[in-house]
Amino acid sequence: MVGDRYGASDGGDYDRGTVSAVTARVPAKVNLQLSVGPRRSDGYHDLVTVFHALALFDEVTVSPADTDSVLVTGEGAGRVPLDSGNLAARAVAALVEAVGPGVQESPGVAIEIRKRIPVAAGLAGGSADAAGALVACNELWDAGLSAQELAEIAGQVGSDVGFALLGGTAIGLGRGDQVTPALATGTYHWVLAFAAEPLSTPAVYAACDRLREARAASSGAPGDASGSPGVAGPPALNTRLMAALRSGDPAAVGPALSNDLERPAVSLFPALRKTLAAGRELGALGAIVAGSGPTCVFLAGSAARAVDLAVSLSGAGVCRAVARAAGPAPGAAITAGPL
Ligand code: C5P
Repeated sequence: MVGDRYGASDGGDYDRGTVSAVTARVPAKVNLQLSVGPRRSDGYHDLVTVFHALALFDEVTVSPADTDSVLVTGEGAGRVPLDSGNLAARAVAALVEAVGPGVQESPGVAIEIRKRIPVAAGLAGGSADAAGALVACNELWDAGLSAQELAEIAGQVGSDVGFALLGGTAIGLGRGDQVTPALATGTYHWVLAFAAEPLSTPAVYAACDRLREARAASSGAPGDASGSPGVAGPPALNTRLMAALRSGDPAAVGPALSNDLERPAVSLFPALRKTLAAGRELGALGAIVAGSGPTCVFLAGSAARAVDLAVSLSGAGVCRAVARAAGPAPGAAITAGPL
């Protein structure tokens, strides 16, 4: 792959001495199923989820520098932390920690992130940037880490970073960090409705816990993994969704979409109810909050229907902006090498 990317038609290596910057392209994601288990003692929740990468990409460029720096431009750039709270910077630090500081040929690394994935929107944009930084630094420093080794580092940085490396459609277990590719066929055409305000992922999980406790208290039954009081056991993979994905039929996938975080997200952001209803009324095959929200995503039957739906949804005035994206998209990939 690297040989191809650098245009070496014979697959031969390029001169490492000329590498001055590496750029990776990384996808947004939605969860076609997001089933949330009870809160664990470490504060996380066990998940059974089906990730699906969208052709809506951020770009991350890393280059050698005298000191570490992070520059963010594009969609929602002002909301991205530039300090050690930046997920891409944390990913680079975790990579250096894993391979040792000798891997770096310069004292620092400059990270430049060009954002198209909205920030704090439920689309895992920060995790995508972390995945981009990992693959780009692995390349820049010729660190030679395998996909498995990168996935292990990804898990330390955030729950969704491993999937951003993998892309496609994948099943996520644990806190979402244990990912395996799913059997899925076809291309799916999505319309995304971006909200005017962000939502904090921890706040949405906390709202999920509160709603479950309240429901369990009112019914007198203990809360459980599925959110249904009185029914014990961990969440399970939705076999109807998996069969629909194998068949590649969006009309079957649409009604099988599910997200346990939708109700908590709507409780914190009631306007989303109207956005979801508008998409359904306009003929979407499925309508769901993306991850912890507040982005709403709608499944269309074809690319042409997605265009119609996007135009109508824009006109309905139920969100800040509308975009279209097909899925599944590939995971983090190097797009440019030596400048
Ligand atoms: O892993 P990541 O940093 O992306 O998670 C952000 C927050 O989302 C966590 O601090 C936690 O509050 C919540 N979370 C969770 N269970 C998961 C994943 C995330 O509670 N499986």
